Amino acid sequence: MALDSAKASLTHRLNQRRTAGLLRQLRQPEGRVDFCSNDYLGLARSEALRRAIDQAVVEYPLLPSGSTGSRLLAGNTALAEALEAELADFHRAEAALLFNSGYDANVGLLASLPQRGDTLLTDELIHASMIDGARLSYATRHKFRHNDLQDLERHLRQATGTVYVAVESVYSMDGDLAPLPELCDLCDRYGAALIVDEAHATGVFGSQGEGLVVALGLETRVFARVHTFGKALGVHGAVVVGPGVLRDYLINFARSFVYSTALPPHSLLAIRCAYAQLRAEPERIARLHENRWFFLQEAAEHLPDAGWTATESPILGLLVPGNAACRAVAERVQAAGFDLRPILSPTVPAGRERIRICLHAFHTEAEIRSLVRAIQSSLSSVTP
Ligand SMILES: Cc1ncc(COP(=O)(O)O)c(C=O)c1O
Repeated sequence: MALDSAKASLTHRLNQRRTAGLLRQLRQPEGRVDFCSNDYLGLARSEALRRAIDQAVVEYPLLPSGSTGSRLLAGNTALAEALEAELADFHRAEAALLFNSGYDANVGLLASLPQRGDTLLTDELIHASMIDGARLSYATRHKFRHNDLQDLERHLRQATGTVYVAVESVYSMDGDLAPLPELCDLCDRYGAALIVDEAHATGVFGSQGEGLVVALGLETRVFARVHTFGKALGVHGAVVVGPGVLRDYLINFARSFVYSTALPPHSLLAIRCAYAQLRAEPERIARLHENRWFFLQEAAEHLPDAGWTATESPILGLLVPGNAACRAVAERVQAAGFDLRPILSPTVPAGRERIRICLHAFHTEAEIRSLVRAIQSSLSSVTP
């Protein structure tokens, strides 16, 4: 009986989503050209990286299959600590601490840094993992309008205790960039510590993919950065980089670090190999941005009236207002053989529905050209 009531309650909520046309379902890849994944540089599909990881695993003496515990219990290794030192060096930080995912890193960071009496100010478009971390914090929390320095300053003027400001360097849904130099200036002026989630900038910005903070020379002015490995690096996991005291603090207080089994050695080797590949092939980053430019040129010619959320990163949002129209255009482009997804309201505000297009280093000009043509014909058949 109790089970029936729980099932009825879940079914009710699912039906509400279904009726609104917003039901989420797992789908398997259908062999379309990938304009959807976060594999910006193509490392997840790189044969060379797979071989390097296989070889590293074979060569590593007595590699256990699991880490056997959290880092504070049995799960720490010389390999993990050496990798952290390498990552700190690469991202030009004093110290680094690995987390099992970007989600864990953001939750651990935002839940543990700001204390009761402190203030946490978050951009209204930060990722769900930062929102969840913020919800677990006892600090006073406020959202400021997206990339709006004046609104942030208004909150900074009233903030109490130690003040933290959390932003993304590249926003995952809109693909726009945070105004990082101005944010650093503002945080300096008010003595606030800036936290930057570099999930979509890692491997994408910086001459070697160090992230947008390093690309702009701001690494000494940002308190904490989160780099994730599941996107451009093509593997899995994440690291928080920043001052040594931040690492010591997170080891003590970040619950998603303390109370979770550490990444297995296989993952650590995969991360090390992915970074080696990134350093060895900076041309992948150049190709990614060339493809972005080529796409924008094609779009300027064939989609002259299109509205975009932003064009500064490989994430491009083609605005197609209205859930029904946006979904219809996406379905037509998908049927033409391209994998991309509509982002509907309420995930984004009504009227700002968009088709999210992720460009990659491995796209050919022919694929990009065909995509733009497919969008052009789908738009003209769906929208008047
Ligand atoms: C901006 C941002 N931060 C953090 C995460 C979480 O990273 P991970 O997938 O490694 O958990 C994501 C992934 O969707 C993201 O887009």
